[in-house]
Amino acid sequence: MEITVSAESVGQYAGEAVVVGVVQKALLAGPAAEANAALGGLIGQLLDSGEIRGRAGEVTILHTQGKLPAARVAAVGLGESGQLDLFALRRAMGAAARQLRDRGCHRVATALAQMLPPAFRLELTVRAVVEGAYVGLYRGEECKSEAGLPDELDELRLIGLPAGEMELAREAASAARAAGEATNYARRLVNLPGGDVTPARLAREAAEAAAPTGMRTHILEQEEIRELGMGALLAVAQGSENTPRLIVLRHQGRADGPRVAFLGKGITFDSGGISIKPSADLHLMKGDMAGAAAVLAAMRAIAQRKLPIDVTAVIPAAENMPGGRAYRPGDVVRMLNGKTVEIISTDAEGRLMLADAITYARQLGATHLVDVATLTGACIIALGHVASGVMGTDNALVEAVLDAGEAAGERMWRLPLFPEYRKLLESKLADLKNAGGRPGGTITAGWFLREFVGETSWAHVDIAGTAYSEQDEPHQVEGGTGAGTRMLIALAERMAGGRL
Ligand code: BES
Ligand code: MN
Ligand code: ZN
Repeated sequence: MEITVSAESVGQYAGEAVVVGVVQKALLAGPAAEANAALGGLIGQLLDSGEIRGRAGEVTILHTQGKLPAARVAAVGLGESGQLDLFALRRAMGAAARQLRDRGCHRVATALAQMLPPAFRLELTVRAVVEGAYVGLYRGEECKSEAGLPDELDELRLIGLPAGEMELAREAASAARAAGEATNYARRLVNLPGGDVTPARLAREAAEAAAPTGMRTHILEQEEIRELGMGALLAVAQGSENTPRLIVLRHQGRADGPRVAFLGKGITFDSGGISIKPSADLHLMKGDMAGAAAVLAAMRAIAQRKLPIDVTAVIPAAENMPGGRAYRPGDVVRMLNGKTVEIISTDAEGRLMLADAITYARQLGATHLVDVATLTGACIIALGHVASGVMGTDNALVEAVLDAGEAAGERMWRLPLFPEYRKLLESKLADLKNAGGRPGGTITAGWFLREFVGETSWAHVDIAGTAYSEQDEPHQVEGGTGAGTRMLIALAERMAGGRL
């Protein structure tokens, strides 16, 4: 899809459809008012009759019958006027792009970037609109034997932009394209079956993603992982026929400055191991590598854009399976940093291998650590499927993660790492146990990781509730969401800009 920008008005664009935003219970304004006037008040009539309500995700396609140069107007709901923000803009554009594509349109324009008050920076609105379109257009039909409709949007034009800001808009659109494509790449990896996306396959995907960008790739196989002493990664993987990998990618966008490490949980299937999970929804556990997918996808976009930052991805990849060789509850595992951990549940596997990855990243010289993981069911209880949970030791880094999430259209909320929670991980036998019970389950998992970060600046993002959507929505199909991807890209931009 080609993304173009222009200063044309709704009355000037001559493609197949033009998208205008309609706000619930508000008078028509801006591009929607212009379209309404050209159509002889039709949109206003539909609003009066209640046929258009302006609800988020609602798309009404009107044929202009020659009253405008564009063949159609797509009136898309933006929700309540008080909630008009970048999140609403993304959803509206996603819903509109999807509907127009499914109706066979190839060249469309959108006037949505003009919908927000000037307090929202043009750069952010352009990015929200373009990323929203990419998210909306992803089909998620990777495994269908017959490909769906071959039709795709060929061009999306952002119209009505200020003539003096075309270059800025063009740059924002190009960054958004990279982020949108990265998001859908992560979604594809999450949606592919766990039996296909083994740790070895994930490593191959990483190498293939890295090759065209000049990123350096280093893949460690089981023997090297053993020799290094990554006891946790080995233990988690040992019940599976599919051997583990440690995937390391480096984009050295500058020689000095912070050395950031992005870590992603790469459990290609989480059965729970000997502490086996109930069978309901177990198929969704193919998505337990969503953190790894987000990190890979973000690295791809960061390297494509040659952002001036030194960032290394460290992805521990394993399959958590029961079996004759599986690690068991009651075992004690020796971690890469020498600490010992008593295994209470083999289902608390993500924190184990992430802890080894954290130690590994610190040994590589990382100054900042950010991990993204589908870590705890408790995070779904706390924040539902709406927001990711954020924790960390460095206030500035945590704030940067929250700010990056906001700009990238990913809701994030901070949880506390109060010292009282640490007690829940005390073990009589070993230095630490791997599960602290149900109370504060997301926080005790965070505390477990914290035990391994030492003095290094660290933030942790739990995407258990946000990585996967179980229902089709107007702006995105069900399945992997790519959670974490755009936040990591936005965070890298902030760090590259010296904002940390
Ligand atoms: N991968 C799961 C967490 C998860 C659950 C992600 C549901 C997405 C949806 C993780 O490995 C896990 O099993 N965590 C346990 C920890 C417990 C044993 C302390 C959990 O949340 O129940
Ligand atoms: Mn688990
Ligand atoms: Zn897991």
